[in-house]
Amino acid sequence: MSLNTFQRFRFSPWFSQLVVIRRCNLSCTYCNEFDNSSEALDLELLKKRAKKLKQLGSFSINLTGGEPTLHPDLFELIRYCRQDLRFLRTTMITNGFYLTPELIKKLNQAGLQDMQISIDGVKPNKVTIKVLDTLRERLNYLKDHADFNVVVSGVVGSCPPEESVEVIRTAKDMGFKPRVLLLHDSDGQVKLSEEELAAYQEIKKMIPKSFPEFTSYQDEMLEKGSAPFKCRGGSRYLYVDEFGKVAWCSQTRHIFSKPLMDYTYQDLKREFYSYKSCQDQCTLGCVRSASSVDGWRNQVVPEQAAA
Ligand SMILES: C[S@@+](CC[C@H](N)C(=O)[O-])C[C@H]1O[C@@H](n2cnc3c(N)ncnc32)[C@H](O)[C@@H]1O
Repeated sequence: MSLNTFQRFRFSPWFSQLVVIRRCNLSCTYCNEFDNSSEALDLELLKKRAKKLKQLGSFSINLTGGEPTLHPDLFELIRYCRQDLRFLRTTMITNGFYLTPELIKKLNQAGLQDMQISIDGVKPNKVTIKVLDTLRERLNYLKDHADFNVVVSGVVGSCPPEESVEVIRTAKDMGFKPRVLLLHDSDGQVKLSEEELAAYQEIKKMIPKSFPEFTSYQDEMLEKGSAPFKCRGGSRYLYVDEFGKVAWCSQTRHIFSKPLMDYTYQDLKREFYSYKSCQDQCTLGCVRSASSVDGWRNQVVPEQAAA
């Protein structure tokens, strides 16, 4: 059963992420969101999950992995989300390795609205090879052929700091929207050296303040070691893993999960108000963005719950 407008604006996800395949062609050492063997999920199963997200009132959907471009039915899934389910935004994340002009044209036809391409630095290193030296040609393909918005996203802490700065500069020069993530550990908590913090300060000057990615939490986190907010994971933001389970985010799958197909309005409501012990040091930008509108609304902190 679908929710009414009032219900949606109270508790529904602004943004849901759906894992379409856990396998990735890369193995970035900072990432714990991939394996190198699992099969692509069945298209009909993914359509059911996407439909359920729509029924839960999700405004937009982001297809992730693993590496989504390894999924043979990605185009049909995008078409279904955009044209049949009519999400406000149908988006995806990729490491870009398989981008070709043909693939980009198929994504255009399917109706993709936003792509985030992850580029960590300039030269391949032991941590990551999703860098400018390997991906510059793919960026040119995007520049020439993409009808959708492109966001270039770097992770400060995965490469020598000056390379993170170069990624942002290149993204801007090519007319893409730059984004910066802070390296997090396996609990989603920030993990950066002094030099990396300095690089972050430089990058900050290069990104217009109006960009939503540049919320003040990153400054606060780096200055004080924590940046309290009211996390609405499980409500305003849903992460759906390959088993079809909803989690607050990719890093808390071991703390909270519930099958998507059994997820109800009551679950959205409960998780909207629930306090998450990891929230003060969270660096997951997507969760923070999705939670930001409701900062003024209540959250049940443990003392209140016990009272
Ligand atoms: C898990 S990947 C999935 C999509 C795709 N394979 C890619 O590389 O973009 C999604 C995003 O999470 C980021 N990510 C993974 N682990 C991270 C970490 N420990 N800290 C910060 N960002 C991380 C990646 O760099 C990428 O931008």
